[in-house]
Amino acid sequence: MSSATFRIWRGNSEGGEFQDYTTEVSEGMVVLDAVHQIQAEQANDLAVRWNCKAGKCGSCSAEVNGSPKLMCMTRLSSLPLDRPVTIEPMQAFPSIRDLVTDVSWNYQIKQEIKPFAPRQPDAPDGTWRMKQYDVERVQEFRKCIECFLCQDVCHVLRDHRLHDEFIGPRFFVYSAALEMHPLDTEDRRTELANDHGVGYCNITKCCTKVCPEEITITDNAIIPLKERVVDKMYDPLTKLLRIFRS
Ligand code: SF4
Ligand code: SF4
Ligand code: FES
Repeated sequence: MSSATFRIWRGNSEGGEFQDYTTEVSEGMVVLDAVHQIQAEQANDLAVRWNCKAGKCGSCSAEVNGSPKLMCMTRLSSLPLDRPVTIEPMQAFPSIRDLVTDVSWNYQIKQEIKPFAPRQPDAPDGTWRMKQYDVERVQEFRKCIECFLCQDVCHVLRDHRLHDEFIGPRFFVYSAALEMHPLDTEDRRTELANDHGVGYCNITKCCTKVCPEEITITDNAIIPLKERVVDKMYDPLTKLLRIFRS
C-alpha cells in the first residue's frame, strides 16, 4: 500500500477549481477505483458518472492527465504517481457537476441522421443475402460504446466549438455503419457534405487514437465517407447527369 494524490476538478457550469485528494492506492486499481475511494472517504458529494466498470457502458469518460480516457479502464500503474494525477470532465460538452458533463447534444445529433432503410427481402421467406465481406466491414463500427471520447478530442468540437455544423467522429462512424450496410438503401451524402460537416475533418486521426474500442475511425469510416461525398458532389459525370435530370 502506498498513497497518491488526485487533482480532481470540482464545480459546475458556472465555474470551479481543482482540489487535491490524497488516498491509498494498491496494485490493480484503476482511476475510477481511486475516485470512488475519495468519494467514499473524503468527498461524499463528488459527482461521477459510471455504470459497468468494464469498459462497456461508455459512461465514465473523463480527462486523465489531459487525455480523454475511460476512468474504469485506466490503470494507476500506467500513470506517474510521483505527482498529482489530474482528473477533469470532458471539455467538448457543457459541465453539469464535477466530473459529469451533459452529453445530450450527441443524442440529438443521432436523431438527425437518416435511419436504416433496408431493401425488400431477397427471398420469399423474408430473408436477405449478403456477402460476408460486406457484413464484416460494418461490424467494426458496431463496437462503438458511445463514450464520446472521440468527440471530446476532436479539435473541431473541442476548440472551434462547431457543434452546429459538425456531427463529430462518433457520428461519422454511425453514418458509415449505415451507408456501408449491405442492405441499406438510403443516401446520406448530401447531408454529410452540407449539414454534417464532413469537410471540416482534416484527418488528424486524434479520434482514432483515443477510441477505447480501437475503431479505425479515420481510415475506415471518415475517409470512405469523404470519398463517397466527393463522388456524388463533385464527380463531373454525376454533375452532368444531375443537370440533365433537373
Ligand atoms: S480525424 Fe477528423 S474527426 Fe477525427 S479528431 Fe481529427 S478532425 Fe476530428
Ligand atoms: S467511436 Fe470509439 S471513441 Fe468514439 S464514441 Fe465510439 S467507442 Fe467512443
Ligand atoms: S464504467 Fe462503463 S465504461 Fe467505464
